[in-house]
Amino acid sequence: MTKAEELNEIKNRCAGCKKCGLCETRTNSVFGTGNAEAELMFVGEAPGEQEDLTGVPFVGRAGQLLDRYLYAVDIDRSRVYIANILKCRPPKNRDPLPAEEDACMDWLRAQVKIIRPKIIVCLGRIAAMRLISPDYRITKEHGQWVERGDFLITAVYHPAAILRDPGKREAMMEDMKAIADRLK
Ligand code: URA
Repeated sequence: MTKAEELNEIKNRCAGCKKCGLCETRTNSVFGTGNAEAELMFVGEAPGEQEDLTGVPFVGRAGQLLDRYLYAVDIDRSRVYIANILKCRPPKNRDPLPAEEDACMDWLRAQVKIIRPKIIVCLGRIAAMRLISPDYRITKEHGQWVERGDFLITAVYHPAAILRDPGKREAMMEDMKAIADRLK
């Protein structure tokens, strides 16, 4: 089986997931999208409204901003894989509950195991706290690199945070350039 086929099989199982209460309110589970052979993987927080409606991560305003950053540093979206910590939208986009994250993490673990990216980029505090360290401080630590087994991991501001605070744009650009450099 190819990596894409393996991912597809897990995606189909995830579509019927009932491991937490978010299955009651979701329209679609949002498994992940992109290149199964990606060297670069982005992990966000949880689907928002547009993602819940379409089943595709980062297609709303935050996703469009992420696309612009990828374009600016010459990384084609077709080369990357994008997923979230939670596969289902929390009502009114509230923060994920720890129990929801615990219930959902096996899906992400399976994705990472199949794709085996060289670089994982956490989009925002929630993903960084889950994947890097529970006391992660995004303002202080964004752009720093940590080695974890076979891959490198870093975090950048969540694109939604940049939409709320344009003062973060410059830092995001620097971090994204550094990610593009590492990829080369
Ligand atoms: N925000 C996220 O964290 N993930 C998405 O998929 C969309 C918005």
